[in-house]
Amino acid sequence: MSDKPDLHLIVTEDGSHSLRVPELDETYHSSHGAIQESNHVFIKHGLLHWLKENPDKPIKIFEVGFGTGLNAFLTLLEAESLKINVFYKSIEFYPVEKELANQLNYPKQLNQSEALFEALHNANWEKPAKISELFTLHKTKASLPDFKFSETYDLIYFDAFAPSKQPELWEYPIIEKCYNALNKNGIFVTYSAKGQLKRDLRKAGFELETLPGPPGKFEMVRAIKRR
Ligand SMILES: C[S@@+](CC[C@H](N)C(=O)[O-])C[C@H]1O[C@@H](n2cnc3c(N)ncnc32)[C@H](O)[C@@H]1O
Repeated sequence: MSDKPDLHLIVTEDGSHSLRVPELDETYHSSHGAIQESNHVFIKHGLLHWLKENPDKPIKIFEVGFGTGLNAFLTLLEAESLKINVFYKSIEFYPVEKELANQLNYPKQLNQSEALFEALHNANWEKPAKISELFTLHKTKASLPDFKFSETYDLIYFDAFAPSKQPELWEYPIIEKCYNALNKNGIFVTYSAKGQLKRDLRKAGFELETLPGPPGKFEMVRAIKRR
């Protein structure tokens, strides 16, 4: 990917925006619905599942690819409605320009405050920013293969571009690095259910669940670190 990829705003089938990267022939979300996909994969099968198993505990989340900020926004909204404390670390190597981020229709589609969504994009990089009493965001500009974890997490939202588009982000050393960065009973969740990914997750020590994917996607994967 070039240093400043050309990004085009698109509308997905549930009416929510996403971005398209022509040089990769790839989109940030499913064309069947960006909000629908993020809610299904990361919120329902990631965050809410973890909370069911660990009620009333503060949670530390690590996201691969801050991108549009949609996963962070949906997580922030859950934190507010469920009254849970969230520390949300997100790495991104190609930050989306604010002018483009301001055009994303997520607050409107979700009937939520524009200011709250903008706060995520306006937050400084490289240091924690308190977005609300309950939600702290720490954005870091880094490339996943070079990134060294300095703390551990309860949940990893693995939202890289597809393995066919960026295979270097799905290689075994990265999966192993994610395993080591999780706390006991921590969860790695992603929209992909590729055979090689599943083999690598098992090899790293994860217990796997293959779950129904969001509309347009047959399956997705949730992996748990039991020890
Ligand atoms: C599938 S998109 C999802 C983004 C985001 N979670 C969202 O909902 O908009 C993948 C993201 O990974 C980022 N990315 C690509 N290469 C990366 C790298 N080497 N390290 C970290 N992030 C990367 C992209 O810029 C993009 O924001």
